[in-house]
Amino acid sequence: MIVTIDGPAGSGKSTAARKLAARLQFAYLDTGAMYRAIALASLRGSIDLDDADAVSQFARALQLEIDCGPTHARVSVDGNDVSEAIRSIEVSRATSTISRHQSVREHLIALQRQIGKNLVDFVTEGRDQGSVVFPDADFRFVLSASVEIRASRRHQEMAADGQDVSLEEVAANIRYRDAIDAKQWEPLLASGAAIVIDTTEMAIADVVDRLCETVSGA
Ligand code: DC
Repeated sequence: MIVTIDGPAGSGKSTAARKLAARLQFAYLDTGAMYRAIALASLRGSIDLDDADAVSQFARALQLEIDCGPTHARVSVDGNDVSEAIRSIEVSRATSTISRHQSVREHLIALQRQIGKNLVDFVTEGRDQGSVVFPDADFRFVLSASVEIRASRRHQEMAADGQDVSLEEVAANIRYRDAIDAKQWEPLLASGAAIVIDTTEMAIADVVDRLCETVSGA
């Protein structure tokens, strides 16, 4: 069974997807981590992030590995675990830039489908999972929430992580990313194929319950 969860930054989809996977004992694929890992490696390799061909060639030469365990998703590049390093705001900004390059997307889409072939039941989370990568998925969710609540959630996460960023900076980053990212899941909304959950007023446990009830047919 394939469950896709797409939506904007801070909609709660990462936590919800991870918890849903753990509850169902499904694998969990964090596709944002794959884009982030390429962005981080490109920054470290001093690649021009605006140069689609350069980033794409560089990305294709990397050994990108992702562990899809329901409770311990880890990502490594050329054998180095970068699971924590990919979460900085600098990497978030760089990821927005490199994820716009179609050649980079095509590489990761192929990689994600290949990973999917080796998994039996999985929850995959990102921006284009239900619309582009796994359009035949059994359940395709889109999670949404107001910009204010998403910025506040992200800010709390980053503060807990020891990152010194202001709420305004996080909100600006979220607005910037929305403008780019929404294109990916909009077709899913336009066609009415998505199951949409607005998480603005919901606790994460309730979001997971709702997802779980839908998937289990309860
Ligand atoms: O979900 P996240 O915040 O880790 O995603 C990081 C960035 O990667 C975000 O700006 C959008 C991009 N992304 C994407 O374009 N397609 C995906 N399937 C997953 C993430």
